Amino acid sequence: MSLPALQSMVDPFGRHVTYLRVSVTDRCDFRCSYCMSEHMTFLPKKDLLTLEELDRLCTAFVAKGVRKLRITGGEPLVRKNIMWLFRALARHLASGTLDELTLTTNGSQLPKYAAELRDAGVKRINVSLDTLRPDRFKAITRWGDFSQVMAGIEAAEKAGLAIKLNAVALKGVNEDEIADLLTFAHGRGFDLTLIETMPMGDIDGDRTDQYLPLSIVRARLMDRFTLENIPYRTGGPARYVRVKETGGRLGFITPMTHNFCESCNRVRLTCTGTLYMCLGQDDAADLRSPLRASADDALLAEAIDRAIARKPKGHDFVIDRRTRQPAVARHMSVTGG
Ligand code: 5AD
Ligand code: SF4
Repeated sequence: MSLPALQSMVDPFGRHVTYLRVSVTDRCDFRCSYCMSEHMTFLPKKDLLTLEELDRLCTAFVAKGVRKLRITGGEPLVRKNIMWLFRALARHLASGTLDELTLTTNGSQLPKYAAELRDAGVKRINVSLDTLRPDRFKAITRWGDFSQVMAGIEAAEKAGLAIKLNAVALKGVNEDEIADLLTFAHGRGFDLTLIETMPMGDIDGDRTDQYLPLSIVRARLMDRFTLENIPYRTGGPARYVRVKETGGRLGFITPMTHNFCESCNRVRLTCTGTLYMCLGQDDAADLRSPLRASADDALLAEAIDRAIARKPKGHDFVIDRRTRQPAVARHMSVTGG
């Protein structure tokens, strides 16, 4: 039984903000070509909020009605002592004020942490996996090791965590492998979600070359599979179908070809305490100053209210030959997926 929220955050468009994504580090042990450039400059470690401060911030949001917390990055599991944060946040699951504590990971550290995550109350995880071919995996992630990620997925399965695989659909890179990813995921009892590449941050190549609308992917899949729309939702932006032949669930996240902003229930916090009210807009609120200005949370609560009051209606992502600039300068690894 979940308890009613103590308070609730409602934005100017009547949307209830019940979901907070927290990027605990902008660093990553991979360098995926669509996400980062190979030579990224990361934040100086001294600018990061401490884990205690992140816990305080998350707790303030839970008190304001957030029911779902997703820990992201960069790669969240490369942050030192990150399990402390999961264990600390688990108290909100125990008290019934939080429905779900989850994370998005590239899987590389799961052999080490899967069991501890489960013990902290994590039930489902998202693992990013764009290909099943080791050579291709190396080409996409630059620094990643496919067998390590597979070992991570196995560790998560063994720990009893439900797994959703996230794959970014990339033109000329993995578009010929979507059906294989689907067969693999569903064969193991995992959900699969496909994502369109979004114009966030400078990368080494040209995104126009990689952008593949999911409407095309969906049409192609329909040659081989029967896709039935289902009302299943996880509180995120994905829309799901049931694949009749496999019995599994397939999600589509279509920020580019379909506007997913109307039902947006999320805000995003960076590891320096900046709150982004929209993934695709630059407007942000500094929560670090009110957090550090006093030991009580009154200033912080006010700053959060002011931020929610200016949550924008949506993003204006465009990827085309004329618009070569990313819609926002920051990379996905700053605010998390
Ligand atoms: N567009 C779409 N998805 C991205 N990701 C990282 N960068 C981008 C981008 N520019 C994905 C990762 C991961 C999730 C956190 O976001 O592959 O699945
Ligand atoms: Fe790291 Fe994820 Fe970005 Fe790849 S997509 S570089 S795994 S943060």
